[in-house]
Amino acid sequence: MTNQVVRETPFFFLLSGENPELAVYELESILSTLNLPLQLKISPDNRVIEFKCISNLQHNISQKSSFPGIISNIMNKATLTHFCCQLLLQIDYPRHPPTSFSELILAFNSSGIQELTPGKTFSVETRRIGDPEGIFLRKNLSQELSRYIGTQILKKNPTKRVNLEYPDEKFITILSKHGFWFGQFVSHSLRKSVQQRTANRRPFFHPSSMNPLLQRTMVNLAAIKPGEWLLDPFCGTGGALLEAARMGIQSIGVEIDRKIIWGAYQNLKADEITSNSTHLIFGDANQLSFQRGSISAVVTDPPYGTASSTRGVDLQALLINFFRKIRPILSSQARVVIAMPSSINIEDQLAQILNASYRKFLQYVHRSLTRKILVFIVHE
Ligand SMILES: C[S@@+](CC[C@H](N)C(=O)[O-])C[C@H]1O[C@@H](n2cnc3c(N)ncnc32)[C@H](O)[C@@H]1O
Repeated sequence: MTNQVVRETPFFFLLSGENPELAVYELESILSTLNLPLQLKISPDNRVIEFKCISNLQHNISQKSSFPGIISNIMNKATLTHFCCQLLLQIDYPRHPPTSFSELILAFNSSGIQELTPGKTFSVETRRIGDPEGIFLRKNLSQELSRYIGTQILKKNPTKRVNLEYPDEKFITILSKHGFWFGQFVSHSLRKSVQQRTANRRPFFHPSSMNPLLQRTMVNLAAIKPGEWLLDPFCGTGGALLEAARMGIQSIGVEIDRKIIWGAYQNLKADEITSNSTHLIFGDANQLSFQRGSISAVVTDPPYGTASSTRGVDLQALLINFFRKIRPILSSQARVVIAMPSSINIEDQLAQILNASYRKFLQYVHRSLTRKILVFIVHE
């Protein structure tokens, strides 16, 4: 596919349903780092995002950011996105979803399926998302629709053959009460492999270690652009630094506990991460001495006083003090992504200290802990 085609080719992403708002914000944050003129359309339930690189002659889309570079860059990072497809057909149901199968397939009959690459084998898969209602309650609907679309593809493209096990091309239909999306599968995200890398498999584990998937989500929320550094001032066993390094992001971690920072060092070493990309500082987050305006991304999971100690300091006081200390070293538009228990309500105060706006997302961890993920964006 050439660069010219990339500009006009729409794609869509299916996002995970566990925290759709957070999933949208994660993907938006990743897209914002690409520095490309993009057009996004988000479904009302936040489960599907359509994305298109809009034509802009002033914008030089380089070879590095051409398809499949752009898509693989996104899919290597996103933790709350399942997969990406090239969009072939999309229908919105602005008023109500279809009430019959014939109404559902109307779009395929009217706009039809275009000509596809001849000779290639293919499969068709249908996924229903969201709460089922009306036609979506129909048993076997997914199989019926997949079969119908398969037949339509063969009618239009007689040289193609169905191969459900090892197809050359996979077509996917997403069905929701808001609309449907039909497209050719491009790639999965690394979500599953990140989920398998649990923190207790590292050489050094501590009960305060954050799960790698959420840690990676937090790094993505910081929208770090090429060349920018991430700072984790309460880096613990190095979870954020490990995920950042895996995404090619340089970082600095600060930790006050000698045993834990030694553990972080062991974890980085096991991943062959060197001091060229990742620095560890044994010290106090409240005594940082960086140049004014030099930090554009802070990602951190401070101690809550349960698995990790606040060293006798009240958590609220620790956070307020820390925010006051980092304010001068943050650049304009810097993002501060921080996790804390949902029971602590100091985000307005923290936003005021930073002169920032913020987004808030809740994350259920277990019966006694719901975490709050806050993303502050510092104003000029
Ligand atoms: C919740 S843990 C961080 C977990 C980390 N994200 C990980 O995955 O391992 C918080 C860490 O902050 C450290 N800490 C506490 N007070 C600190 C301070 N004033 N400066 C730097 N680190 C501190 C604790 O020792 C602890 O390791």
